[in-house]
Amino acid sequence: KKSYTIAVIPGDGVGQEVIPIAVEALRKVGSLEGFDLSFEELPIGGVALDLVGVPLPEETLTKAKQSDAVLLGAVGWPKYDDNPKPMKPITALFQLRAALGVFSNLRPVKVFPQLVDSTYLRKDTALGVDLLIIRELTGGIYNAHPRGFTTNEQGDEVGFCTELYSATEVDRIARVAFDIAKERRGKLCSVDKATVLEGSMLWRKRVTQMALEYPEVEVSHLLVDTAAMDLVRHPRQFDTILTGVMFGDILSDLAAMIPGSVGLLPSAALGDSGPGIFEPVHGSAPKHYGKDTVNPIAAVLSAAMLLRYGLKEENAAKRIEKAVSDVLDRGFRTYDIHTPGTTLVGCKKMGEEILRSLADA
Ligand code: IPM
Ligand code: MN
Repeated sequence: KKSYTIAVIPGDGVGQEVIPIAVEALRKVGSLEGFDLSFEELPIGGVALDLVGVPLPEETLTKAKQSDAVLLGAVGWPKYDDNPKPMKPITALFQLRAALGVFSNLRPVKVFPQLVDSTYLRKDTALGVDLLIIRELTGGIYNAHPRGFTTNEQGDEVGFCTELYSATEVDRIARVAFDIAKERRGKLCSVDKATVLEGSMLWRKRVTQMALEYPEVEVSHLLVDTAAMDLVRHPRQFDTILTGVMFGDILSDLAAMIPGSVGLLPSAALGDSGPGIFEPVHGSAPKHYGKDTVNPIAAVLSAAMLLRYGLKEENAAKRIEKAVSDVLDRGFRTYDIHTPGTTLVGCKKMGEEILRSLADA
């Protein structure tokens, strides 16, 4: 019998509420599909600062590296916002991403037909949207050097960082994007700011070169400002979107408003080998924490991505996605996607109903 070890890192805020539900879904689907899962819960972020005084404890990192996949909740809590950088919860996220070498960040954005009323766009604009943002994660302006604070010649205080991509960094993320696009609808849109940024100029050149290896993939290039407009105006034109770390961050929150809630969006962060990190795109949501109101669907769909990309258990992934769709068919809605005629439930209840759907399938 196959068996997998999952590092479970709920982290801060609502991560504590949604991750246990995702774990239960994994447990259930493991028994249905006939593989064993063992779960090891580990602290990160504010929770880890309280517990051991650092945002990413040694043990969390070691166990995460040894696992088959990492299921992450959220990292960040207002109380620690003024900590020096090494002691900020968010630093743990960067350390974990770097240590696991997860350079590609997959963020699917799908409009469930049952939820078309939740969109912030016109319904006929949102209907049928099914796109995937592939965001570079360990390079670019978030990670490149030099960066820091200094004083300029006029004695003025300066904060700076570097928008830098190497050919190697562009090629490896572009490779992932082409390989995935070719298995989807064969359309890849690369998003950059090649009219202004040198890193983007190189990015566009390398993507254009790689396109020659993929005659079956239709490639386009958009400037990030135009891409933002087009994601709102006509999102159905997009299949696979390839972009850098900061444009991808911004566009994925923008794109979340197509289905209408960040509480629906899962993500995967993958490297060349070793465990990936699977986490809901919503953060720790301090305002909502402890109220049992948030939507566990993003976390549950992240568990499905863990099964698909982390464990290569496609059938199990499909079962979970089917259960989510089924629970929506049965009319259950958390507050963020609640519309007239549907049943408003809390986080726990939504979780229970997802598990019921899993069992019945
Ligand atoms: C995300 C988040 C993070 C990011 C922050 C918390 C550093 O916004 O995963 O989208 O920008 O990578
Ligand atoms: Mn973000």
